Amino acid sequence: MKHHHTNEFSKHASSYQKHNIIQEKVVKKLIENIHSNPKKILDLGCGSGAVYQSTTWAVDQFIGVDKATNMCELHPRDKCIQLINEDFEDLKFQKSDIVISSSALQWARDLDSLFQKIYSNTDEIAFSIFCDGTFKTIYEVANLKPFLPNSLELLKLLNRYFEFKYEVIHYKLDFKDNLSKFRYIKNSGVSGGERKLSFKDTKKLIAEYPHEYLEFEVMFVWGKVKS
Ligand SMILES: C[S@@+](CC[C@H](N)C(=O)[O-])C[C@H]1O[C@@H](n2cnc3c(N)ncnc32)[C@H](O)[C@@H]1O
Repeated sequence: MKHHHTNEFSKHASSYQKHNIIQEKVVKKLIENIHSNPKKILDLGCGSGAVYQSTTWAVDQFIGVDKATNMCELHPRDKCIQLINEDFEDLKFQKSDIVISSSALQWARDLDSLFQKIYSNTDEIAFSIFCDGTFKTIYEVANLKPFLPNSLELLKLLNRYFEFKYEVIHYKLDFKDNLSKFRYIKNSGVSGGERKLSFKDTKKLIAEYPHEYLEFEVMFVWGKVKS
């Protein structure tokens, strides 16, 4: 399943930057709420560099990890930046002051193991994670099972490893018609990448989707590893 997600991101890498309105808001909020000026940063799912570009303090070392080659190619370069073109779930972790991940951890196959590795290799964390309230009405209308993590389940898991504060934000993004909503989903790289609907069902969904907007649910987490 995860490979489908990456293909989706790779295929849309060039158009991605125009279509990531929500991710831009999310990364801004995530980074604004980091107050410790961490010197060594590990960014999981760094994409084209939104996390690095949002940092406002001096960073000694920035390690960005992303399995989509075309996304890494768009990332800023600097002598303090090291890019690793790899699946973050296979990564051999180095110690860092903070692990940041914006709009990427929802794709992990095994978040528990990933959190455990993060727990052993950093002091601080800052995550934004899309949850199953994203495209909620689409899933209801199309009678599909959501594939994104549930916020309550996520909190339980985070509680095993981290002491943190969190916020769950619901965003609504307005569109002029249903076709442009579904085009946005396709171009934004947040659709999950799998073809779960037949052409006929997709047409029906576009015709019957009841809202002017698309829904997004994002959990923000800022904290430290448990001592
Ligand atoms: C929605 S984008 C977010 C990019 C960036 N962090 C931002 O806020 O704009 C998610 C990124 O995570 C990457 N990604 C998803 N699953 C991954 C995995 N298992 N290992 C490495 N990268 C992954 C995708 O390739 C994509 O570039």
